[in-house]
Amino acid sequence: MTTPLPDIRPRRTRATPAWRRLVAQTRLHARELVLPMFVREGVSEPVPISSMPGVVQHTTDSFKRALHDAADAGIGGVMLFGVPAHKDATGSGADDPDGILNVATRIAAAEVGGDLVVQTDLCLDEFTDHGHCGVLDGAGRVDNDASLERYRAMALAQASAGSALLGLSGMMDGQVRAVRDVLDAHGHHDTAILGYAAKYASALYGPFREAVQSSLEGDRRTYQLDPANAREGEREAAIDVAEGADVVMVKPASLYLDVLSRVAAASPVPVWAYQVSGEYSMIEAAAANGWIDRERAVLESLVSIRRAGADGILTYWAVEAAHLLQDGAGA
Ligand code: PBG
Repeated sequence: MTTPLPDIRPRRTRATPAWRRLVAQTRLHARELVLPMFVREGVSEPVPISSMPGVVQHTTDSFKRALHDAADAGIGGVMLFGVPAHKDATGSGADDPDGILNVATRIAAAEVGGDLVVQTDLCLDEFTDHGHCGVLDGAGRVDNDASLERYRAMALAQASAGSALLGLSGMMDGQVRAVRDVLDAHGHHDTAILGYAAKYASALYGPFREAVQSSLEGDRRTYQLDPANAREGEREAAIDVAEGADVVMVKPASLYLDVLSRVAAASPVPVWAYQVSGEYSMIEAAAANGWIDRERAVLESLVSIRRAGADGILTYWAVEAAHLLQDGAGA
């Protein structure tokens, strides 16, 4: 007896590049990518971040050039992080109008505010000497409600500096409502909020800690989500939406595609994912060893995040990926 020939042949629509391009279900576009950028106070040359090859802490001059490169590449936006020269217990540089992040925001709004959505990280960890995302109480615990007061002050500073979208990444309870209230009370009705709704306590933020010279000892497990919990990620997204978030985030991306897919299925607002520093560095390190094809891995990682349901992606490869897509790669 011979095996019958297959009467269903899914390979037909995979046969040529033209077929594959035509039937690709998930498409990646430059305009849905957001580039995270680091601007460091008091340096005259860009400083490479050794654990993130190709990423630097910018000077204000190199930052300006990179902003125009990003706009020219046609990406959707930039997410700004400041690296201050001095840190203290309350992160006072965060809401100082002359603090590095607010200075960088004014530059970005002036240089590319018409082409890109200028976004800012609204969190204290870059500015505190203990490295936590909030302020500490007498017992050394992160004090939720006292941290909200600091976030409100940061929100006003960032909105006044010209940020169009505030990225609330601190994971304090009630942060979206607290920031929405203070923005509205001061006439910043049009400043939008990105709720880092499902932000997990991940080992993949390691390289970022070098990028912002974090002095954190210990971890963030009392405020970021336990990697074991998917339901809680959905709940956090629902809470952020109820409190007024305009966009919600799942972070990291690649190891949390199930959470992303669940949040995307339920969310009435756009859902973004943050392909974090460790996701970047893992692919860069493997590629540097010749173990994987770098460009293919970069595009595959991004298309997979889109396939899982992300409407937008924060990625350190945003500009490069935009160029690759223009060249027809990934087709
Ligand atoms: C908090 C913040 C972090 C990242 C983005 N915003 C660090 C953290 O929560 O530990 C990490 C991003 C990355 O790893 O690329 N300000």
